Amino acid sequence: MADLSTDFVGIKSPNPFWLASAPPTDKEYNVRRAFEAGWGGVVWKTLGLDPHVVNVNGPRYGVIHGADRRVLGINNIELITDRPLEVNLREIKAVKRDYPDRAMVVSVMVPCEEWAWKEILPKVEETGADGIELNFGCPHGMSERGMGSAVGQVPEYIEMVARWCKQTTRMPVIVKLTPNITDIRHPARAAHAGGADAVSLINTINSITSVNLDAMCPEPMIDGKGSHGGYCGAAVKPIALNMVAEIARDPATAGLPISGIGGVTTWRDAAEFLALGAGSVQVCTAAMTYGFGIIKELTAGLSEWMDRAGYDNIAAVTGRAVPNVSDWKNLNLNYVTKARIDQDLCIKCGRCYAACEDTSHQAIGMGPDRTFEVIDAECVACNLCVNVCPVQDCITMERLPAGATDPRTGRVVPAEFGDWTTHPNNPAAHAAE
Ligand SMILES: Cc1cc2nc3c(=O)[nH]c(=O)nc-3n(C[C@H](O)[C@H](O)[C@H](O)COP(=O)(O)O)c2cc1C
Ligand code: SF4
Ligand code: SF4
Repeated sequence: MADLSTDFVGIKSPNPFWLASAPPTDKEYNVRRAFEAGWGGVVWKTLGLDPHVVNVNGPRYGVIHGADRRVLGINNIELITDRPLEVNLREIKAVKRDYPDRAMVVSVMVPCEEWAWKEILPKVEETGADGIELNFGCPHGMSERGMGSAVGQVPEYIEMVARWCKQTTRMPVIVKLTPNITDIRHPARAAHAGGADAVSLINTINSITSVNLDAMCPEPMIDGKGSHGGYCGAAVKPIALNMVAEIARDPATAGLPISGIGGVTTWRDAAEFLALGAGSVQVCTAAMTYGFGIIKELTAGLSEWMDRAGYDNIAAVTGRAVPNVSDWKNLNLNYVTKARIDQDLCIKCGRCYAACEDTSHQAIGMGPDRTFEVIDAECVACNLCVNVCPVQDCITMERLPAGATDPRTGRVVPAEFGDWTTHPNNPAAHAAE
Protein backbone atom coordinates (compact mmCIF):
# COMPACT_ATOMS: atom_id res chain seq x y z
CA MET A 1 0.00 0.00 0.00
CA ALA A 2 1.28 3.48 -0.89
CA ASP A 3 2.94 5.47 1.88
CA LEU A 4 1.03 8.76 2.26
CA SER A 5 3.30 10.23 4.92
CA THR A 6 5.07 13.45 4.08
CA ASP A 7 8.09 15.38 5.19
CA PHE A 8 7.51 18.94 4.05
CA VAL A 9 10.52 21.15 4.89
CA GLY A 10 11.12 18.91 7.90
CA ILE A 11 7.48 19.04 9.01
CA LYS A 12 6.19 15.49 9.19
CA SER A 13 2.59 14.41 8.78
CA PRO A 14 0.90 11.04 8.26
CA ASN A 15 -0.70 12.24 5.02
CA PRO A 16 -0.31 15.29 2.76
CA PHE A 17 -3.70 16.79 3.68
CA TRP A 18 -3.53 19.85 5.92
CA LEU A 19 -6.46 22.06 6.79
CA ALA A 20 -5.71 25.57 5.53
CA SER A 21 -5.63 28.54 7.87
CA ALA A 22 -9.31 29.48 8.15
CA PRO A 23 -12.39 28.77 10.34
CA PRO A 24 -11.73 24.98 10.43
CA THR A 25 -8.47 25.67 12.29
CA ASP A 26 -9.65 28.58 14.40
CA LYS A 27 -9.70 26.82 17.76
CA GLU A 28 -8.71 23.78 19.78
CA TYR A 29 -12.13 22.13 19.57
CA ASN A 30 -12.04 22.12 15.77
CA VAL A 31 -8.44 21.04 15.40
CA ARG A 32 -8.76 18.15 17.85
CA ARG A 33 -11.79 16.87 15.96
CA ALA A 34 -9.96 17.30 12.66
CA PHE A 35 -7.02 15.25 13.93
CA GLU A 36 -9.37 12.59 15.28
CA ALA A 37 -10.95 12.43 11.81
CA GLY A 38 -7.51 11.81 10.29
CA TRP A 39 -6.19 15.12 8.93
CA GLY A 40 -2.42 15.07 8.56
CA GLY A 41 -1.91 18.62 9.74
CA VAL A 42 -3.32 22.10 10.11
CA VAL A 43 -2.28 25.64 9.52
CA TRP A 44 -3.80 27.42 12.51
CA LYS A 45 -6.09 30.35 11.72
CA THR A 46 -3.92 33.46 11.29
CA LEU A 47 -2.70 35.02 14.52
CA GLY A 48 -2.09 38.74 14.96
CA LEU A 49 -0.94 40.97 17.78
CA ASP A 50 -3.35 42.09 20.47
CA PRO A 51 -5.62 43.96 20.64
CA HIS A 52 -7.21 41.32 18.46
CA VAL A 53 -9.29 42.27 15.42
CA VAL A 54 -13.07 42.37 15.36
CA ASN A 55 -15.22 40.84 12.67
CA VAL A 56 -18.46 42.12 11.20
CA ASN A 57 -21.51 40.83 13.02
CA GLY A 58 -23.58 40.41 9.88
CA PRO A 59 -23.09 37.74 7.21
CA ARG A 60 -19.46 37.21 6.20
CA TYR A 61 -19.75 34.66 3.39
CA GLY A 62 -21.11 34.90 -0.13
CA VAL A 63 -21.40 31.92 -2.46
CA ILE A 64 -21.60 30.77 -6.07
CA HIS A 65 -23.85 27.75 -6.54
CA GLY A 66 -23.94 25.32 -9.43
CA ALA A 67 -27.29 24.44 -11.01
CA ASP A 68 -27.73 21.65 -8.43
CA ARG A 69 -26.98 24.12 -5.58
CA ARG A 70 -23.61 22.55 -5.08
CA VAL A 71 -21.16 25.08 -3.64
CA LEU A 72 -18.69 26.01 -6.38
CA GLY A 73 -17.04 28.92 -4.61
CA ILE A 74 -17.20 30.87 -1.36
CA ASN A 75 -16.32 34.49 -0.88
CA ASN A 76 -15.55 35.78 2.60
CA ILE A 77 -14.98 39.09 4.33
CA GLU A 78 -13.70 37.51 7.52
CA LEU A 79 -10.50 38.80 9.10
CA ILE A 80 -7.73 36.92 10.91
CA THR A 81 -8.48 35.32 14.29
CA ASP A 82 -10.70 37.47 16.48
CA ARG A 83 -9.65 35.67 19.67
CA PRO A 84 -6.90 36.86 22.04
CA LEU A 85 -3.35 35.81 21.14
CA GLU A 86 -2.74 34.13 24.49
CA VAL A 87 -5.81 31.92 24.12
CA ASN A 88 -4.72 30.74 20.69
CA LEU A 89 -1.15 30.08 21.83
CA ARG A 90 -2.31 28.08 24.84
CA GLU A 91 -4.58 25.95 22.64
CA ILE A 92 -1.91 25.39 19.98
CA LYS A 93 0.48 24.15 22.65
CA ALA A 94 -2.09 21.77 24.13
CA VAL A 95 -3.09 20.28 20.79
CA LYS A 96 0.49 19.87 19.57
CA ARG A 97 1.40 18.14 22.82
CA ASP A 98 -1.43 15.63 22.35
CA TYR A 99 -0.89 15.08 18.60
CA PRO A 100 2.89 15.09 18.14
CA ASP A 101 2.67 13.16 14.86
CA ARG A 102 0.53 15.81 13.12
CA ALA A 103 1.79 18.91 11.36
CA MET A 104 1.06 22.04 13.39
CA VAL A 105 1.86 25.12 11.35
CA VAL A 106 0.83 28.52 12.67
CA SER A 107 -0.22 31.32 10.35
CA VAL A 108 0.92 34.79 11.34
CA MET A 109 0.11 38.31 10.17
CA VAL A 110 1.46 41.37 11.95
CA PRO A 111 2.43 44.87 10.75
CA CYS A 112 5.28 45.06 8.27
CA GLU A 113 7.76 46.20 10.91
CA GLU A 114 10.61 44.15 12.28
CA TRP A 115 9.70 44.60 15.97
CA ALA A 116 6.26 43.10 15.38
CA TRP A 117 7.63 39.86 13.89
CA LYS A 118 10.31 39.67 16.57
CA GLU A 119 7.64 40.03 19.21
CA ILE A 120 5.26 37.32 18.02
CA LEU A 121 7.56 34.62 16.67
CA PRO A 122 9.18 33.56 19.98
CA LYS A 123 5.68 33.20 21.45
CA VAL A 124 4.66 30.91 18.61
CA GLU A 125 7.90 28.98 18.86
CA GLU A 126 7.26 28.38 22.56
CA THR A 127 4.09 26.40 21.72
CA GLY A 128 6.16 23.67 20.08
CA ALA A 129 4.59 24.37 16.68
CA ASP A 130 6.35 22.81 13.67
CA GLY A 131 6.45 25.86 11.44
CA ILE A 132 4.98 29.23 10.57
CA GLU A 133 3.11 30.41 7.54
CA LEU A 134 3.28 34.12 6.74
CA ASN A 135 -0.13 35.30 5.61
CA PHE A 136 0.66 37.71 2.78
CA GLY A 137 -2.60 36.90 1.08
CA CYS A 138 -5.75 38.24 2.70
CA PRO A 139 -7.25 40.60 0.06
CA HIS A 140 -9.78 42.36 2.29
CA GLY A 141 -9.80 44.26 5.56
CA MET A 142 -6.25 43.49 6.65
CA SER A 143 -4.88 44.75 3.32
CA GLU A 144 -6.47 48.13 4.06
CA ARG A 145 -4.22 48.19 7.15
CA GLY A 146 -1.05 47.50 5.16
CA MET A 147 -0.98 43.74 5.85
CA GLY A 148 -2.02 40.58 3.98
CA SER A 149 -2.07 41.03 0.22
CA ALA A 150 -0.77 44.59 0.62
CA VAL A 151 2.53 42.90 1.53
CA GLY A 152 2.12 39.98 -0.87
CA GLN A 153 1.85 42.35 -3.82
CA VAL A 154 5.27 43.91 -3.16
CA PRO A 155 8.09 41.39 -3.67
CA GLU A 156 10.58 43.61 -1.79
CA TYR A 157 8.39 43.47 1.34
CA ILE A 158 8.03 39.69 1.04
CA GLU A 159 11.77 39.26 0.88
CA MET A 160 12.35 41.63 3.78
CA VAL A 161 9.81 40.00 6.11
CA ALA A 162 10.86 36.46 5.19
CA ARG A 163 14.44 37.43 6.07
CA TRP A 164 13.40 38.88 9.45
CA CYS A 165 11.53 35.68 10.22
CA LYS A 166 14.40 33.41 9.23
CA GLN A 167 16.71 35.46 11.44
CA THR A 168 14.29 35.28 14.37
CA THR A 169 13.05 31.70 14.49
CA ARG A 170 14.28 28.11 14.22
CA MET A 171 10.93 27.11 12.73
CA PRO A 172 10.59 26.53 8.98
CA VAL A 173 9.07 29.58 7.28
CA ILE A 174 6.37 29.09 4.67
CA VAL A 175 5.29 32.18 2.74
CA LYS A 176 1.64 32.10 1.71
CA LEU A 177 1.18 33.94 -1.57
CA THR A 178 -1.68 36.01 -2.84
CA PRO A 179 -3.05 35.26 -6.32
CA ASN A 180 -4.02 38.93 -6.66
CA ILE A 181 -0.93 39.68 -8.68
CA THR A 182 -0.02 39.60 -12.37
CA ASP A 183 2.93 37.20 -12.31
CA ILE A 184 3.11 34.80 -9.36
CA ARG A 185 6.78 34.01 -10.04
CA HIS A 186 7.93 37.38 -8.71
CA PRO A 187 6.61 37.00 -5.14
CA ALA A 188 7.79 33.38 -5.09
CA ARG A 189 11.28 34.45 -6.14
CA ALA A 190 11.23 37.12 -3.44
CA ALA A 191 10.26 34.57 -0.78
CA HIS A 192 13.09 32.34 -1.98
CA ALA A 193 15.55 35.22 -1.92
CA GLY A 194 14.48 36.08 1.63
CA GLY A 195 15.39 32.55 2.70
CA ALA A 196 11.85 31.15 3.05
CA ASP A 197 11.79 27.36 3.28
CA ALA A 198 8.66 27.05 1.14
CA VAL A 199 5.72 28.85 -0.39
CA SER A 200 2.05 27.98 -0.10
CA LEU A 201 -0.61 29.12 -2.54
CA ILE A 202 -3.15 30.32 -3.28
CA ASN A 203 -4.82 32.53 -0.75
CA THR A 204 -8.20 33.90 -1.82
CA ILE A 205 -8.97 35.85 -4.99
CA ASN A 206 -10.36 39.36 -4.63
CA SER A 207 -13.98 39.23 -5.67
CA ILE A 208 -17.61 40.27 -5.50
CA THR A 209 -19.74 37.15 -5.88
CA SER A 210 -23.14 38.72 -6.41
CA VAL A 211 -25.23 41.88 -6.21
CA ASN A 212 -28.56 42.03 -4.42
CA LEU A 213 -30.67 43.73 -7.09
CA ASP A 214 -33.41 44.81 -4.69
CA ALA A 215 -31.00 46.54 -2.36
CA MET A 216 -28.53 47.37 -5.15
CA CYS A 217 -25.71 46.16 -2.94
CA PRO A 218 -22.97 43.54 -3.18
CA GLU A 219 -23.47 40.43 -1.06
CA PRO A 220 -22.85 39.53 1.70
CA MET A 221 -24.70 42.68 2.72
CA ILE A 222 -23.96 44.47 5.98
CA ASP A 223 -26.64 47.06 6.74
CA GLY A 224 -27.01 48.05 3.10
CA LYS A 225 -23.30 48.03 2.17
CA GLY A 226 -21.01 45.32 0.82
CA SER A 227 -17.26 44.93 0.42
CA HIS A 228 -14.98 42.95 -1.86
CA GLY A 229 -13.83 39.70 -0.29
CA GLY A 230 -11.71 36.60 -0.88
CA TYR A 231 -12.92 33.89 -3.29
CA CYS A 232 -12.02 30.22 -2.89
CA GLY A 233 -13.37 26.72 -3.43
CA ALA A 234 -13.58 24.41 -6.44
CA ALA A 235 -13.99 27.36 -8.83
CA VAL A 236 -10.48 28.67 -8.13
CA LYS A 237 -8.62 25.38 -8.66
CA PRO A 238 -7.57 26.09 -12.27
CA ILE A 239 -6.03 29.41 -11.25
CA ALA A 240 -4.23 27.81 -8.33
CA LEU A 241 -2.92 24.89 -10.40
CA ASN A 242 -1.45 27.23 -12.97
CA MET A 243 0.25 29.36 -10.33
CA VAL A 244 1.72 26.29 -8.61
CA ALA A 245 3.02 25.04 -11.96
CA GLU A 246 4.47 28.45 -12.84
CA ILE A 247 6.56 28.39 -9.68
CA ALA A 248 7.49 24.73 -10.02
CA ARG A 249 8.89 25.19 -13.51
CA ASP A 250 10.59 28.53 -12.92
CA PRO A 251 14.36 27.89 -12.89
CA ALA A 252 14.75 30.70 -10.32
CA THR A 253 12.66 28.78 -7.78
CA ALA A 254 13.47 25.22 -8.87
CA GLY A 255 13.24 22.88 -5.90
CA LEU A 256 11.46 25.39 -3.65
CA PRO A 257 8.88 23.30 -1.75
CA ILE A 258 5.24 24.21 -2.45
CA SER A 259 2.13 23.60 -0.39
CA GLY A 260 -0.76 23.60 -2.88
CA ILE A 261 -4.05 25.29 -1.96
CA GLY A 262 -7.18 26.22 -3.86
CA GLY A 263 -10.30 24.19 -4.47
CA VAL A 264 -9.03 20.81 -3.32
CA THR A 265 -12.26 18.83 -2.91
CA THR A 266 -11.41 15.30 -4.03
CA TRP A 267 -8.33 13.06 -3.98
CA ARG A 268 -7.92 13.76 -7.69
CA ASP A 269 -7.61 17.51 -7.08
CA ALA A 270 -4.91 16.76 -4.56
CA ALA A 271 -3.08 14.43 -6.93
CA GLU A 272 -3.12 17.15 -9.57
CA PHE A 273 -1.53 19.67 -7.19
CA LEU A 274 1.11 17.09 -6.25
CA ALA A 275 1.80 16.29 -9.90
CA LEU A 276 2.34 19.98 -10.62
CA GLY A 277 4.93 20.32 -7.88
CA ALA A 278 3.20 20.48 -4.48
CA GLY A 279 4.63 18.51 -1.58
CA SER A 280 1.51 18.90 0.55
CA VAL A 281 -1.99 20.23 -0.04
CA GLN A 282 -4.26 22.40 2.06
CA VAL A 283 -8.04 22.34 2.17
CA CYS A 284 -10.54 24.91 3.40
CA THR A 285 -13.80 25.27 1.45
CA ALA A 286 -14.40 21.54 0.97
CA ALA A 287 -14.08 20.98 4.73
CA MET A 288 -16.35 23.97 5.42
CA THR A 289 -18.92 22.56 3.00
CA TYR A 290 -18.82 18.85 3.83
CA GLY A 291 -17.17 18.61 7.27
CA PHE A 292 -13.97 16.95 8.49
CA GLY A 293 -15.14 13.46 7.42
CA ILE A 294 -14.04 14.05 3.83
CA ILE A 295 -10.49 13.24 4.91
CA LYS A 296 -11.39 9.54 4.75
CA GLU A 297 -12.29 9.77 1.07
CA LEU A 298 -9.29 12.00 0.34
CA THR A 299 -6.77 9.57 1.84
CA ALA A 300 -8.47 6.40 0.60
CA GLY A 301 -8.84 7.75 -2.92
CA LEU A 302 -5.29 9.03 -3.14
CA SER A 303 -3.89 5.81 -1.72
CA GLU A 304 -5.87 3.61 -4.12
CA TRP A 305 -4.88 5.72 -7.11
CA MET A 306 -1.20 5.64 -6.10
CA ASP A 307 -1.34 1.85 -5.81
CA ARG A 308 -2.97 1.55 -9.23
CA ALA A 309 -0.56 4.00 -10.86
CA GLY A 310 2.49 2.48 -9.20
CA TYR A 311 3.57 5.36 -6.96
CA ASP A 312 5.02 4.20 -3.64
CA ASN A 313 5.11 7.52 -1.85
CA ILE A 314 4.10 11.18 -2.12
CA ALA A 315 7.56 12.33 -3.20
CA ALA A 316 7.26 10.05 -6.23
CA VAL A 317 4.17 11.96 -7.39
CA THR A 318 5.42 15.46 -6.57
CA GLY A 319 6.36 17.36 -9.71
CA ARG A 320 5.72 14.40 -11.99
CA ALA A 321 3.74 16.51 -14.50
CA VAL A 322 5.99 19.56 -14.38
CA PRO A 323 8.23 18.58 -17.35
CA ASN A 324 5.06 18.39 -19.46
CA VAL A 325 3.93 21.93 -18.64
CA SER A 326 5.10 23.91 -21.61
CA ASP A 327 4.69 27.26 -23.31
CA TRP A 328 2.31 27.43 -26.27
CA LYS A 329 5.15 27.95 -28.70
CA ASN A 330 6.51 24.48 -27.91
CA LEU A 331 3.33 22.55 -28.69
CA ASN A 332 3.41 20.15 -31.63
CA LEU A 333 1.50 21.76 -34.53
CA ASN A 334 1.78 18.49 -36.47
CA TYR A 335 -0.46 16.71 -33.97
CA VAL A 336 -3.76 16.61 -35.88
CA THR A 337 -7.00 15.26 -34.39
CA LYS A 338 -10.66 15.02 -35.34
CA ALA A 339 -13.76 14.62 -33.17
CA ARG A 340 -15.45 11.20 -33.23
CA ILE A 341 -19.00 10.51 -32.03
CA ASP A 342 -19.84 7.11 -30.57
CA GLN A 343 -23.31 6.50 -32.02
CA ASP A 344 -24.07 3.83 -29.41
CA LEU A 345 -23.57 6.30 -26.55
CA CYS A 346 -25.21 9.31 -28.25
CA ILE A 347 -28.59 10.31 -26.76
CA LYS A 348 -29.31 12.65 -29.69
CA CYS A 349 -29.60 15.77 -27.54
CA GLY A 350 -28.04 17.94 -30.25
CA ARG A 351 -25.90 20.00 -27.90
CA CYS A 352 -22.72 19.32 -29.85
CA TYR A 353 -24.46 20.34 -33.07
CA ALA A 354 -25.73 23.63 -31.64
CA ALA A 355 -22.34 24.50 -30.19
CA CYS A 356 -20.34 23.69 -33.31
CA GLU A 357 -22.90 25.07 -35.76
CA ASP A 358 -23.44 28.39 -33.97
CA THR A 359 -20.11 29.12 -32.37
CA SER A 360 -17.41 26.93 -33.82
CA HIS A 361 -16.79 25.51 -37.29
CA GLN A 362 -20.04 24.00 -38.63
CA ALA A 363 -18.34 20.61 -38.44
CA ILE A 364 -21.21 18.48 -37.16
CA GLY A 365 -23.93 17.40 -39.53
CA MET A 366 -27.43 16.48 -38.37
CA GLY A 367 -29.23 13.75 -40.31
CA PRO A 368 -33.03 13.63 -40.66
CA ASP A 369 -33.22 11.02 -37.86
CA ARG A 370 -31.10 13.23 -35.55
CA THR A 371 -27.94 11.30 -36.24
CA PHE A 372 -24.93 13.50 -35.62
CA GLU A 373 -21.71 13.01 -37.58
CA VAL A 374 -18.48 14.96 -37.65
CA ILE A 375 -17.50 16.53 -40.97
CA ASP A 376 -13.71 16.03 -41.03
CA ALA A 377 -13.24 18.63 -43.75
CA GLU A 378 -14.49 21.32 -41.34
CA CYS A 379 -13.40 20.04 -37.92
CA VAL A 380 -10.54 22.09 -36.42
CA ALA A 381 -10.39 19.80 -33.36
CA CYS A 382 -11.31 22.56 -30.93
CA ASN A 383 -12.77 20.10 -28.38
CA LEU A 384 -15.89 22.21 -27.75
CA CYS A 385 -18.27 19.37 -28.63
CA VAL A 386 -16.41 17.00 -26.28
CA ASN A 387 -16.81 19.51 -23.47
CA VAL A 388 -20.50 20.28 -23.97
CA CYS A 389 -21.66 16.71 -24.62
CA PRO A 390 -23.56 15.50 -21.53
CA VAL A 391 -22.45 11.88 -22.06
CA GLN A 392 -18.94 11.10 -20.91
CA ASP A 393 -16.67 9.63 -23.62
CA CYS A 394 -19.43 9.89 -26.22
CA ILE A 395 -17.26 12.27 -28.24
CA THR A 396 -13.51 11.72 -28.27
CA MET A 397 -10.62 13.20 -30.23
CA GLU A 398 -8.85 10.81 -32.59
CA ARG A 399 -5.38 11.42 -33.94
CA LEU A 400 -4.79 11.30 -37.71
CA PRO A 401 -1.79 9.07 -38.40
CA ALA A 402 1.32 10.45 -40.05
CA GLY A 403 0.95 10.25 -43.81
CA ALA A 404 -2.84 10.73 -43.73
CA THR A 405 -4.27 13.75 -45.49
CA ASP A 406 -6.20 16.22 -43.35
CA PRO A 407 -9.35 16.84 -45.42
CA ARG A 408 -9.68 20.32 -43.90
CA THR A 409 -6.27 21.63 -44.95
CA GLY A 410 -5.34 19.20 -47.71
CA ARG A 411 -1.97 18.77 -45.96
CA VAL A 412 -0.34 15.43 -45.36
CA VAL A 413 0.23 14.99 -41.63
CA PRO A 414 4.01 15.04 -41.08
CA ALA A 415 5.59 12.34 -38.94
CA GLU A 416 8.02 14.74 -37.34
CA PHE A 417 7.46 17.23 -34.56
CA GLY A 418 6.98 20.85 -35.61
CA ASP A 419 6.18 23.78 -33.33
CA TRP A 420 5.79 27.54 -33.70
CA THR A 421 9.46 28.22 -33.10
CA THR A 422 10.26 26.72 -36.51
CA HIS A 423 6.99 27.37 -38.32
CA PRO A 424 7.30 29.18 -41.69
CA ASN A 425 4.67 31.77 -40.59
CA ASN A 426 6.71 32.79 -37.56
CA PRO A 427 8.81 35.84 -38.45
CA ALA A 428 11.06 35.12 -35.47
CA ALA A 429 11.82 31.64 -36.84
CA HIS A 430 13.58 33.25 -39.84
CA ALA A 431 15.36 35.96 -37.88
CA ALA A 432 18.10 33.55 -36.86
CA GLU A 433 18.61 32.21 -40.42
C1 LIG B 1 -13.84 32.02 5.73
C2 LIG B 1 -12.41 31.97 5.34
C3 LIG B 1 -11.46 32.51 6.17
C4 LIG B 1 -10.11 32.46 5.82
N1 LIG B 1 -9.19 32.96 6.67
C5 LIG B 1 -7.87 32.86 6.36
C6 LIG B 1 -6.88 33.28 7.28
O1 LIG B 1 -7.17 33.72 8.40
N2 LIG B 1 -5.58 33.16 6.91
C7 LIG B 1 -5.20 32.65 5.69
O2 LIG B 1 -4.00 32.57 5.41
N3 LIG B 1 -6.14 32.23 4.80
C8 LIG B 1 -7.45 32.32 5.12
N4 LIG B 1 -8.38 31.83 4.24
C9 LIG B 1 -7.93 31.28 2.94
C10 LIG B 1 -7.74 29.76 3.00
O3 LIG B 1 -6.74 29.39 3.92
C11 LIG B 1 -7.35 29.20 1.61
O4 LIG B 1 -6.14 29.79 1.20
C12 LIG B 1 -8.40 29.48 0.56
O5 LIG B 1 -9.68 29.33 1.11
C13 LIG B 1 -8.26 28.57 -0.65
O6 LIG B 1 -8.49 27.21 -0.32
P1 LIG B 1 -9.90 26.47 -0.62
O7 LIG B 1 -10.22 26.70 -2.06
O8 LIG B 1 -9.66 25.05 -0.25
O9 LIG B 1 -10.92 27.12 0.26
C14 LIG B 1 -9.72 31.86 4.59
C15 LIG B 1 -10.71 31.30 3.75
C16 LIG B 1 -12.04 31.35 4.13
C17 LIG B 1 -13.07 30.72 3.25
S1 SF4 C 1 -13.98 19.54 -32.29
FE1 SF4 C 1 -14.74 21.64 -32.59
S2 SF4 C 1 -14.78 21.89 -34.80
FE2 SF4 C 1 -14.62 19.70 -34.43
S3 SF4 C 1 -16.71 18.98 -34.41
FE3 SF4 C 1 -16.19 19.42 -32.30
S4 SF4 C 1 -16.88 21.54 -31.97
FE4 SF4 C 1 -16.81 21.20 -34.17
S1 SF4 D 1 -23.87 16.26 -27.49
FE1 SF4 D 1 -23.27 14.13 -27.29
S2 SF4 D 1 -25.12 13.06 -26.78
FE2 SF4 D 1 -25.73 15.06 -27.53
S3 SF4 D 1 -26.05 14.72 -29.75
FE3 SF4 D 1 -23.95 15.35 -29.51
S4 SF4 D 1 -22.81 13.45 -29.37
FE4 SF4 D 1 -24.92 12.96 -28.98
